Amino acid sequence: MVYHPDLGYVENGIDFTDTGLYKTAIRDFGQATILPSFSYQSKIFSDLEDEKLWTRSWIAIGTTHQIPNIGDLLPFTVGRHGLHVQRQEDGSLIGRFNKAQHGGCRAIPAQCQTGKKTKCSFTSCGYSRDRQTIRVEEIGENTPTMHQYLGLIPERLLPVKVETLGPYIFVNLDPDSKSLNEEFSSIPESIDFNSITNLDLQTDQWFECASNWKLIGRAFYDSDNNKQNLEVKELSQDTTHFHATDVLISEADNNDNLLKADIYWLFPNLLIVDTLTHIFSVILQPTSMQESLLRACVFNKNDTDQGNDSIPKEILNFIELIQSRTKSFQDITGKINSPSSSELNNKTMPLENNIAGYVFQKYVAKTVTTMHEYYWNAPLFTNNPVA
Ligand code: FES
Repeated sequence: MVYHPDLGYVENGIDFTDTGLYKTAIRDFGQATILPSFSYQSKIFSDLEDEKLWTRSWIAIGTTHQIPNIGDLLPFTVGRHGLHVQRQEDGSLIGRFNKAQHGGCRAIPAQCQTGKKTKCSFTSCGYSRDRQTIRVEEIGENTPTMHQYLGLIPERLLPVKVETLGPYIFVNLDPDSKSLNEEFSSIPESIDFNSITNLDLQTDQWFECASNWKLIGRAFYDSDNNKQNLEVKELSQDTTHFHATDVLISEADNNDNLLKADIYWLFPNLLIVDTLTHIFSVILQPTSMQESLLRACVFNKNDTDQGNDSIPKEILNFIELIQSRTKSFQDITGKINSPSSSELNNKTMPLENNIAGYVFQKYVAKTVTTMHEYYWNAPLFTNNPVA
């Protein structure tokens, strides 16, 4: 079933919307702990995230380069909601909920209710893993694959708000949300989104990550050498993004060159790494409480690398570093949750010593504890007046 907000988000008597649970995580930097361990482990907490975060934020789902032609379709599961964005005849983009929000049955099968996205060959919905972009030139327009998303009358599907920032496509399931530009109005001008639109997409690839999605962004900035470069002034802001310059993303090579980049994190799920030669971006997508997908795109800033459609080695190394950093952090949160853990018993949690992670966890704590007005006890998207 779809989790209704009026059921509450309570596990073992603990109400996850209680602001008191997060008070140690929003202390000043240096004294703040990581988020409570249930936020990395609990299915109920991920239901809360679905209701408060995924359905009410601007979520990056891909790039305009991935659906260049009329009819091309980009599927993306946002929280528990299967949706897609399609290129229209006039070149604009339209967002809709998929025809199938669950496997065509009246109820959601048990194997799809665990919080882990299933691999389903029958349909694509809010409980299954996404398939890659569907290109009309590869499969044709009126095919069963397209019908899984569009049905026979796409005009009758529930609409989803779509906006772009340079090449990045964002959706928002909340019909009352502010605009994308308003949401990210404070992003530094050092990043020129329009110029990224004009770059060649060298490649896009997906990588698995064995950790909760919230632990991944912080790993982009997680190096002892980076600490002094991260700007403390960011901390006082009630922000929707994090930005740091000259972040070290590799060890020294044979020529003693250290690879550095500017890294922009647009909360909750887009990271853009700006290096001398490439723009490398990652869209985060949870696939279970302890697994996530990194949907990576590499844009080439350098004409000399034309025709090369592989991921540059230094970027591949960086992705491996992210995977291993997040895995170790996930292991720490798993140990804390075990009944014998001293942290659990003494009610002490590790400190969050990563500034990006700290700013992000404040955003998460605020988002999941914000109270909204419910018009009736149904999911948010059914309020859509356009429907
Ligand atoms: S409900 Fe199980 S794959 Fe869609």
